[in-house]
Amino acid sequence: MPRPSTIAIDGPAAAGKSTIGGLLAERLGYLYLDTGAMYRAVTWVALERGVDIGDEQAVTALARIMRIAITRPTVDDGRQYTVLADGEDITWEIRRPEVDSHVSRVSAYPGVREVLTEQQRSIARQGRVVMIGRDIGTVVIPDADLKVYLDASVEERARRRYLELLERGDEADYDDTLSAMKRRDRIDSDRAVAPLKAAEDAIRVNTDNLSIDEVLSVVEGIIEDVDSRIEEQTHP
Ligand code: CDP
Repeated sequence: MPRPSTIAIDGPAAAGKSTIGGLLAERLGYLYLDTGAMYRAVTWVALERGVDIGDEQAVTALARIMRIAITRPTVDDGRQYTVLADGEDITWEIRRPEVDSHVSRVSAYPGVREVLTEQQRSIARQGRVVMIGRDIGTVVIPDADLKVYLDASVEERARRRYLELLERGDEADYDDTLSAMKRRDRIDSDRAVAPLKAAEDAIRVNTDNLSIDEVLSVVEGIIEDVDSRIEEQTHP
């Protein structure tokens, strides 16, 4: 049975991309790549090395020289994958609130995007991949076999992120989470290069009132439709 080989999942923060993307990749036996982790890795290393986040040239130079690797989990502590920056495990560091509040600024820099987009494309070229992010269907792999755009209201997304923070044992306040999310949405959508938006040929799924299992079965249904469309095109 033919299958979409490159699957792009885009959407705003906490729309469910990482949960759905990870489960889908596991079921299909595909590689799972969360491109947000790469932007987060650059942000964390910049913060840690005391690079001024407002200094576009310095941040871009850092993105050029640092080596980011995203691998299968190397520790059994609930992680979806391991993130290495120049060999150092920064899987949990990139989830810290200070990374949340600076990552959109870093990812608006065209030079940073250029470096990371190139790395993402070379992974996509190998096929059998589920890639999640903000610009996968529009910029990174515009010829992806399947594009899904997951969305949900900002209030629902803030609620999910707030619960996620509490679950991890972090301190959290719903109103702060909501305003941080609105701010990040605004920066991601308004930036000049590769802004957050659905590709014209993406299938949109609103996850407001859907459980993870429900979203997964919607997406799997879409894959079956794409499968049979590919089949019809190959054997009309
Ligand atoms: O997990 P969450 O949805 O909160 O964020 P993420 O997917 O880890 O992405 C963090 C940030 O990286 C986003 O807010 C974007 O600013 C940026 N990003 C991007 O610009 N392009 C991508 N393909 C992925 C993430």
